[in-house]
Amino acid sequence: MSSIELKPTDKRLNGDLSVPGDKSISHRSVIFSALAQGTSVITNFLTGEDCLRTVEAFRLMGVNIEQAGNKITVHGKGLSHLREPSQPINFGNSGTTARLMSGVLAGLPLFTTAFGDESLSKRPMDRVIQPLRVMGADIQGREHDSLLPLAFRGKKLEGARHELTVKSAQVKSALLLAGMLAEGETEVIELGETRNHTEMLLPEFGVDVEVEGRSIKIKGGQEPSASDIKVPGDISSAAFFLVAASIVPDSELVIRDVGLNPTRDGIVKALKGMGANIEVQVHTHIGSEPVGDIVVRHSPLKGMTLEGDLIPNVIDEIPILALAATQAEGKTIIKDAEELRYKETDRIKAVVETLSLLGADIEAQEDGMIIQGGTPLNGGTIDSYGDHRIGMMGAIASLICEREVTVQNKECINISYPSFFTDLNQVLN
Ligand code: S3P
Repeated sequence: MSSIELKPTDKRLNGDLSVPGDKSISHRSVIFSALAQGTSVITNFLTGEDCLRTVEAFRLMGVNIEQAGNKITVHGKGLSHLREPSQPINFGNSGTTARLMSGVLAGLPLFTTAFGDESLSKRPMDRVIQPLRVMGADIQGREHDSLLPLAFRGKKLEGARHELTVKSAQVKSALLLAGMLAEGETEVIELGETRNHTEMLLPEFGVDVEVEGRSIKIKGGQEPSASDIKVPGDISSAAFFLVAASIVPDSELVIRDVGLNPTRDGIVKALKGMGANIEVQVHTHIGSEPVGDIVVRHSPLKGMTLEGDLIPNVIDEIPILALAATQAEGKTIIKDAEELRYKETDRIKAVVETLSLLGADIEAQEDGMIIQGGTPLNGGTIDSYGDHRIGMMGAIASLICEREVTVQNKECINISYPSFFTDLNQVLN
């Protein structure tokens, strides 16, 4: 485990930046193209560890996937050519790989086993296993079939109607993928809106999906066909720079080619609600995904309440929003966010412990946190908890700390943003 020492700085963030490809879209692009017949080229693919786990899963199933920098070429041969892996699949730290692949593996006529790292092995899998069972899936796992490792005796599933009890794009996507491979129709009714990349991207691969409000229907027996995809920049990675430029005096930054899907742009809405100076311009669409540039300038922030339907839209951005809140005038309340307890680590606990250690006035709640803003941060030694977004939040905090910040266990940042420190140094001047 390595650490990084970040000295106090009076540098500001200035210039132009492109963040790496979107993690959610990268995962889905590989999955859909590996199930397809034909060659798909995916550019600006996120080569973070999580997405490479999805690539490896399909390599083990016999799909030839070439990688050259952030371009990957997937030589799909169709569903009937996928073979039984001779070894267990390692999902690593990746919840998205684990949940989405569960939907796929349950519905293919193969026997597979899968495991994950220490963090993933604690995260709930019953949220996908239970509804997949309704479709006839045969899945076994630890702790009464709720935790990894898992064993899948894949088979032809039956379409079903699912009313979700959790706001989760991973669960929705797992069921839609299982539905695509099943017999008959599958309907997923969401509890609340979550990121819709699966519904947006499947039609690019020739798969019909019907969306009506919170209901998403997919007909079984559809095989995707190959498609070339250019992955937009990840707004969840851009979020660290949006907050950094907002809180570091004299900053002005342009972040180029960021995915601005309305189910993902809550960070912009939240920061604007806090008084941030942010301009967004959509300049193109990649498939149906809007893509644009974001200009952000330093600005005083004020506290606000983040709750309800906004929460799933900013679920991965709450650690960095909490840091912004420590610098805002007044109180910020984050509620309805109990899902944070099931992420790479318990993010309510990790955020509160980390920011408290740095000198913030922050208190944990069962479903969120309360932050009293306007507190200067001191510095100190913090732990990433093996969670990439906590590690990056700590590194951004160092930009406004009075003393040095040491971030321990920093390598987890490679999970979603391998070039994070290079990009940060590029715009600090
Ligand atoms: C993701 C969905 C979210 C998010 C994760 C990626 C996806 O998880 O936190 O980083 O790609 O579908 P949940 O579905 O558990 O909310």
